[in-house]
Amino acid sequence: MAKMKPISFDSRGALLPEHGITEEQIFSLKTQLETARDEVTQTDLDLFDNGDCIPQNKQPLDAGFHEMPERILDAYQADRANSELGRILKTATRLRESVDKVVVLGIGGSYMGARALMECCCQPYFNELSRADRGGRPRMYFEGNNVDNDWTQGLLSFLKSDSKGDGPEGKWAIVVISKSGGTLETASAFRIFLAALEECVGKENLPDYVVPVTGESGKLANLADAIGCEDRYLVPDGVGGRFSILSAVGLLPAAILGIDVVTLLSGAAAMNSRFRTEPLGDNPVMDYVAVNHLLEKERGVLTRVLSVWTKSLESTGFWYDQLLAESLGKAEQGALPLTCLNSRDLHSRAQQHQEGIRDKVMNNVILDSWRCDPLSIGVSECDEDLLNELSDKTLPNIMTAAIAGTNLAYKEDNRPTTDIHLPAADEASLGQLLQMLMLATVLEGRLMGINPYGQPGVEKYKKNMNQLLRAPVTS
Ligand code: PA5
Repeated sequence: MAKMKPISFDSRGALLPEHGITEEQIFSLKTQLETARDEVTQTDLDLFDNGDCIPQNKQPLDAGFHEMPERILDAYQADRANSELGRILKTATRLRESVDKVVVLGIGGSYMGARALMECCCQPYFNELSRADRGGRPRMYFEGNNVDNDWTQGLLSFLKSDSKGDGPEGKWAIVVISKSGGTLETASAFRIFLAALEECVGKENLPDYVVPVTGESGKLANLADAIGCEDRYLVPDGVGGRFSILSAVGLLPAAILGIDVVTLLSGAAAMNSRFRTEPLGDNPVMDYVAVNHLLEKERGVLTRVLSVWTKSLESTGFWYDQLLAESLGKAEQGALPLTCLNSRDLHSRAQQHQEGIRDKVMNNVILDSWRCDPLSIGVSECDEDLLNELSDKTLPNIMTAAIAGTNLAYKEDNRPTTDIHLPAADEASLGQLLQMLMLATVLEGRLMGINPYGQPGVEKYKKNMNQLLRAPVTS
């Protein structure tokens, strides 16, 4: 494999005398950050591996995501056919040959990762391409992530009208993902879509067209047994929903779409290695945490805007928003990092953030190269828009100017920014970015002394919803 280009983190835009932080402040956090890193890379992993003496304040300890990329890759190298990744690739090939559409059902961490992978690593408008242009890879649709009556019916009616003929174009499949197996939103969607699939392929064939990804036991596991699904995957114990993107939860949909999952995992493993070995100042995970944490503590910057300067990373932004909010947003000691996704352009949130309350940092995510050749503005006989003088400029030229212009506007008003640079929107860069953001979330949790894992609010939500649904109708 060619040497992987590393992603980088540039904090210079946050080093502002007024309203920002200083290099001295960053380096004064060094010892604390190194202690927190040791906790993540040594204490937590030792406890996780030994399992039996996890202190109360560390439960749950869902540290399984950390070394999962290396574990999956090693197992695949050792046994290409029978390892988990080998089986995932086999399922992906089977589905590609037999269906033209796959519906992925899941919510929260069991949905957002797969969508982020698709939007970053597949061609834009992938679902709109012909089967030949997709290289025979199925289109992919997501449901169960919301209980939206109209979008659900929209997809059902599309699946019915678009699935004609005896070949793969006439068939579709379901990948249903739920770690607990009892999440109502996913379960309701599964029941509804399963009934539609039965009409399409027949009850006896359902096991070939349904692939569950769930825990060892639970309602979904029982249902999968009843349907007769043999081709199924586990969400590993010790890997929480929002940290599961690089398990079968994200890898199976990615492999179905033809995404290079080995490079994706290698990117994540490369970030693990940098996190463990590189010093503050050259360690994207520690540097990112240092800047964002200091801005929060020293300057009251509670809102972190992830500003993604490419459409390919919008879903990655939503994935991160949920990761950070669900992991660290539950802290009571004044820390409430709220991430907001800004879809890149100066014409939305960026305009407002140059003025107004100073409670935000803009964390830009910038692509250093584009998949396609640069597109020029071009010369036109109708120059009423006066663009002929820029005719040789390309869309990447305009993008570079827009990013630099926006950052300059922030700097002139002493508003902190940081830049995460990705070599490209591809598997290698995304694997690094995903692992960087998961590690950063856990590192900051340990720095703050809170447990980033678990879902303390979910039981209450589920209980309330179940009670309300089962209450007698009064009107
Ligand atoms: O990050 C989390 O833990 C959550 O967002 C879960 O992924 C989400 O609640 C779905 O849970 P489950 O996979 O059990 O259906």
